[in-house]
Amino acid sequence: MKYKIIDPDKAYNELPKISPQGITLNEDIYVQLIKSHKVLAELKGYSELLPNKNIILNSITLEEAKDSSEIENIITTHDELYKAIALKKKIHNPAIKEVLNYRRALFLGMDLIKEKGIFTTNMIVAIQQEIEENEAGLRKLPGTKLMNDLTGEIRYTPPDDQDVIKSLMRNLEEFINEENDKLDPLIKLAIIHYQFEAIHPFYDGNGRTGRIINVLYLILMRLLNEPFLYLSSYIIRHKPKYYSLLHDVTFKDEWEPWLMFILQAIETTAKETLTMSENIIKLFDATSVVIKNELNKIYSKELVEVLFSNVYCKISDLVDNGIASRNIASNYLKMLETKGILKSVKIGREVIYINVNLFALFKNPKRH
Ligand SMILES: Nc1ncnc2c1ncn2[C@@H]1O[C@H](COP(=O)(O)OP(=O)(O)OP(=O)(O)O)[C@@H](O)[C@H]1O
Ligand SMILES: [Mg+2]
Repeated sequence: MKYKIIDPDKAYNELPKISPQGITLNEDIYVQLIKSHKVLAELKGYSELLPNKNIILNSITLEEAKDSSEIENIITTHDELYKAIALKKKIHNPAIKEVLNYRRALFLGMDLIKEKGIFTTNMIVAIQQEIEENEAGLRKLPGTKLMNDLTGEIRYTPPDDQDVIKSLMRNLEEFINEENDKLDPLIKLAIIHYQFEAIHPFYDGNGRTGRIINVLYLILMRLLNEPFLYLSSYIIRHKPKYYSLLHDVTFKDEWEPWLMFILQAIETTAKETLTMSENIIKLFDATSVVIKNELNKIYSKELVEVLFSNVYCKISDLVDNGIASRNIASNYLKMLETKGILKSVKIGREVIYINVNLFALFKNPKRH
């Protein structure tokens, strides 16, 4: 796949359509491909056997959304994010809104893929709309440039003409849904991600939409059943490298390092996601045992599930899940606090309870 060396300032409309025949895969890539597939298959198998699938999915997608939306002060914002979810009030904090929009967009995309069995431009537009909360749609006005935030230097100018953008998106859509091209789906994922970012079809949110497409493509290809992967966190952690690899595909036609990067991202994050969900399940089981042994009268599986559906919970969560009436639920939470499982926090007039160990798990994940 040959890209012209172009002056980024004059690069309008120069992005070619996808013609992957030109990509050669070296031996290292084949070796990595097998590794990435192996862990991904392990993750899929594991997720199918999960007893508390929704709980785990809830946390995995929230972490993915948080990482992909790149919040700066992770610890406080992490906490604010969980509190905002528990309080169920109207959210004004833009960073939290962004994370929740991202997660909604991810779930919307998953539902659409499962319903339609294909991935279309309209679906991509719907996902971006959910992220950005506006209906701007595909770019119509010229002038979008990708700049280096630090130096202000223009790094790449995506195609500008409306018809060109539409036709490149049609070409991408055909490539995504083509099943007979004999290309490995993980290699295709890397090509799709590059091409989508290079088309840069929206005014904003192209990075986040592209990262959602990555996970959804794995679902489309049945390599995952749910958006059960922290893929974006790797991309965000290696952002400078990720940017320069995208750039090198465009200007030097260097595909191998890019493909390698995406394959390694999949392997690394599949392992991390697996470890994280194993840790959540272990903690869930250990907490169940402690409650059974030490607070046997209040134990029920449903109670533990409420404690793990969010990092914070409150009395009404127990009431709404039919576990106990208000007064009794309040006592339950206090008893759980005496055992160190929960810790109460007062926010305004409300008291919410943090699942101490679950919070610690998310706060200190081991990542590469
Ligand atoms: N040289 C490049 N060629 C192609 N795409 C690029 C290049 N540099 C950056 N990008 C893509 O542009 C995205 C940023 O675009 P945009 O601001 O529209 O997305 P975002 O979702 O708002 O931001 P972010 O990805 O930083 O969260 C990056 O995430 C990257 O995928
Ligand atoms: Mg942006």
